[in-house]
Amino acid sequence: MDSTGSEGAGGAGEGQAAPGREHWSSRAGFVLAAIGSAVGLGNMWRFSYLTAENGGAAFVVLYIAVTLLVGLPVMLAELVVGRGAQRSPVRALVHFGGERWSLLGLVFVAAGFLILAYYSVIAGWTVRYALTILFGGFGPEGLGSAVPGAESGQALGAAMGARFAEIAEGPVAFAYHLAFMACTVGIVAGGVKAGIERTSLVLMPLLFLLVCGLAVYAGTLKGAGAGYAYYLHTDFSEVLSREVLTEAAGQAFFSLSLGMGAILTYGSYLGRDAHLPNSSLMIAGADMGIAFIAGLVVFPMIFALGLSEAVGASTVGALFITLPQAFAQMGGVGRVMGTLFFVVLVFGALTSAISLLEVVVSSSMDGLGWTRRRSALVMGGAIALLGIPAAWSTEVLGVMDGVANNLFLLTGGLALSLFVGWVMPNPLGEAEVGAQGVRWFFLWRFLLRFVVPAVLGFVLLDAIPDTFRSVADLFSAKPG
Ligand code: TRP
Repeated sequence: MDSTGSEGAGGAGEGQAAPGREHWSSRAGFVLAAIGSAVGLGNMWRFSYLTAENGGAAFVVLYIAVTLLVGLPVMLAELVVGRGAQRSPVRALVHFGGERWSLLGLVFVAAGFLILAYYSVIAGWTVRYALTILFGGFGPEGLGSAVPGAESGQALGAAMGARFAEIAEGPVAFAYHLAFMACTVGIVAGGVKAGIERTSLVLMPLLFLLVCGLAVYAGTLKGAGAGYAYYLHTDFSEVLSREVLTEAAGQAFFSLSLGMGAILTYGSYLGRDAHLPNSSLMIAGADMGIAFIAGLVVFPMIFALGLSEAVGASTVGALFITLPQAFAQMGGVGRVMGTLFFVVLVFGALTSAISLLEVVVSSSMDGLGWTRRRSALVMGGAIALLGIPAAWSTEVLGVMDGVANNLFLLTGGLALSLFVGWVMPNPLGEAEVGAQGVRWFFLWRFLLRFVVPAVLGFVLLDAIPDTFRSVADLFSAKPG
């Protein structure tokens, strides 16, 4: 029942599954791994902040619309290409589109390099925060010894800011980044089932329980109501700007792990029986749900401790300065809650980092004929080195993030939607495999052909010049 003409130059022609290709042990395993990829720092870090800054509940509505109309079609497109080709991104695109599409695959791999290099640096901070809070290093005493007068809220905030600056940049930040990369490499080297799937199977349910527990606890704090009110105030006038649409689209792509073949790669380990539309819905639903719940943790805590002033400063600031300050002010309970909160971040970051590395590793296994172990070690090592500039400068890190989001993911998503919408031989047939009776495939193709390119094109026209400007600023700011 191989209805897709494999006229691509890459197909060796032996049906679908390359013999010996690894597969998930169950559909639940795949869905959890994909949720693991999607749920990460983006959920805890940027979603709730963007929501509060851009119209509250109105932003949530916009975000859901963007996810349904743009994110889901692209996710399904990635799954269709990956599952259909049973190959890593470069080979999969060549398989369905011919040699010239290998370029897009290479862009995906490059994006994996770039994103993981700085993502792992941030993940290293979260590990360090979890440990520091656990051992009491951010308690009023811990900080107080560093900065005299830290008992008062303001001085504590200043001390926390100073600590963040210490933690975020330099050799120790690099060391944590290395340790985090080593873990990621170890898991990916373990393989699809024993490494990736097993890790997600353990960590994702734990993460979910912990976030829910933290949200319930945050709700019991006095003053939580003001936090909810800030998070979910409804102002539709704030969402009707191009800037906000750009933010929402960028966030949706990053949060859903779209635009660089991560979901495509995970899809390539699926069997023919998987129901791709349902899986996509589950992944997107879980990702949005956890992002939303994370906001129910963050804002009540910040407001209950009277730290709302500090929220607007920066996204990273809310997570790494204001929240830790809230935990420090809570005393003993704060130590427990703070540790758990950062453990959640570490879990989320790890399962996401795995998927980023897997794109690169599966490509070098397929393309260079390397073993999984060798690919993981060599590519992981190279990415660790690429993280050096990010580990030494949060400014460079910010620019890497902007380039990845605005250039790589959005253009990658645009190119992929055009590919599946217009170039790929029979995407509808491929999508229907394992999903008899779904009637909205034509809607899917319509979205892919017209709506997704239109929205992404509109957003990119705005985002590309901004990104180039930020890169230029970075270089002109440096003497020499
Ligand atoms: N989605 C993850 C997050 O929200 C990050 C991530 C993992 C990612 N894999 C990706 C982003 C692939 C883009 C592409 O933190």
